[in-house]
Amino acid sequence: MAKLWAGRTSGEIDPAAESYNRSISFDKRMWREDITASVAHAKMLKKQGLIPAEAADRIVSGLWGIMEDIESGRLVIDSACEDIHSFVEAELTAREGEAGKMLHTARSRNDQVAQDLRLYLRGEGMETRKLVLDLITALMEKAYEEKATVMPGYTHLQRAQPVTFGHHLMAYAMMLSRDAGRLDDALRRMDESPIGACALAGTTYDTDRRFEAELLGFSAPMRNSLDAVSDRDYAVELLSALSLIMTHLSRFSEEIILWSSWEFRFISLSDAYSTGSSIMPQKKNPDMAELTRGKTGRVYGDLIALLTALKGIPLAYNKDMQEDKEAVFDAFDTVKAALTVFAPMISTMRVLRDNMRLAAQRGFINATDLADYLTCRGMPFRTAYKLVGEIVTYCSENGLTLEELGIEEYKKRSELFEQDLYAAIDIDTCCFKRTSLGGPTPESVDTQIAWLREKLGL
Ligand code: ARG
Repeated sequence: MAKLWAGRTSGEIDPAAESYNRSISFDKRMWREDITASVAHAKMLKKQGLIPAEAADRIVSGLWGIMEDIESGRLVIDSACEDIHSFVEAELTAREGEAGKMLHTARSRNDQVAQDLRLYLRGEGMETRKLVLDLITALMEKAYEEKATVMPGYTHLQRAQPVTFGHHLMAYAMMLSRDAGRLDDALRRMDESPIGACALAGTTYDTDRRFEAELLGFSAPMRNSLDAVSDRDYAVELLSALSLIMTHLSRFSEEIILWSSWEFRFISLSDAYSTGSSIMPQKKNPDMAELTRGKTGRVYGDLIALLTALKGIPLAYNKDMQEDKEAVFDAFDTVKAALTVFAPMISTMRVLRDNMRLAAQRGFINATDLADYLTCRGMPFRTAYKLVGEIVTYCSENGLTLEELGIEEYKKRSELFEQDLYAAIDIDTCCFKRTSLGGPTPESVDTQIAWLREKLGL
């Protein structure tokens, strides 16, 4: 395969070096973007009279033909080419002869790859945002069903205070809504077009960068040609948004794994989203959640790989930048796959409400409420806290819950205790009376869902 840069070098490149240099194995996925951007470039060249109109028309129809042929499988991307840009140009020239050779006027692969990647990642960002919203929708639907399901809330993985399962699920919906916002922010900031920066210093041709930007759906051309070909910070922003999505999914996965264990038995995953063991017939494993937790590391790795690739390179283009693509492609592939299984996994899981409730009734989860009971009757909270601590110790040593301890025992410890203490420490009271804004009650879950739906337009 003749090199794009044949002319400058006359010696043959070593085969191992050639293969090391190639990016086609991974950048070929940007074929649509490369063709679309090239069509826009040809149209700009025509409008500005930089190439003959007839040659421009041949380029455009030739490019659409290549697009169709790749789409239908008639044309296979040649893996011997250096990259997708050289492949498309070589194929165009093979089809359209001299006209094909005019396409690269006032363009460099440096601004071309920057443009292609922006186009590609804009699509990926929007698709991922949609998948995040799908998961949020699944969470809101489940939360609505489970808004009155009482479960233990934890701190330090110790039973702390009762919450509703709907409230717990909505916590993840809120986190994911900010993830969608982070993708939006990155997408907004990357809405500028690098094409026309050429190799690094612009061009002497009378190009129209605004026109080309507009054709490709970008709101403006980038204002500095060196920045345009050197910047990959939008890819870093996207990777960091993806990393946070994985952080959230990984925490959630950890809970799903715990909840489906025999020790918890809070949920049962659908068979469609679990696997069995090859030897232990009783096993139903939460593999999707475990994989998500495991794959989080590789997305973080992708972020660090790109940051590290960028940190030492002088302006403008350096070949190090070819490393941007595998990192960001892998991260998008991983996050999209995780989101795709997560939403239906949540929708189809069975919630074992009785077990959640039972767990909420053990572990002195209403101890704070008992202290609050005394506080409402005039005892300073810190004194009440200490007294309840002693009562918990007594109950724990005697195998009793706070509900099971007799009224005389309570009265022995404080004359503020009355029969109504039992109603005050009832598990439903403890959960449903927490009516402060953002609390766990069914009404609050409804409010959270309504607020989020409105905010996200869902
Ligand atoms: N394959 C290259 C990349 O992904 C395209 C840009 C090549 N530019 C160059 N001057 N070698 O970065």
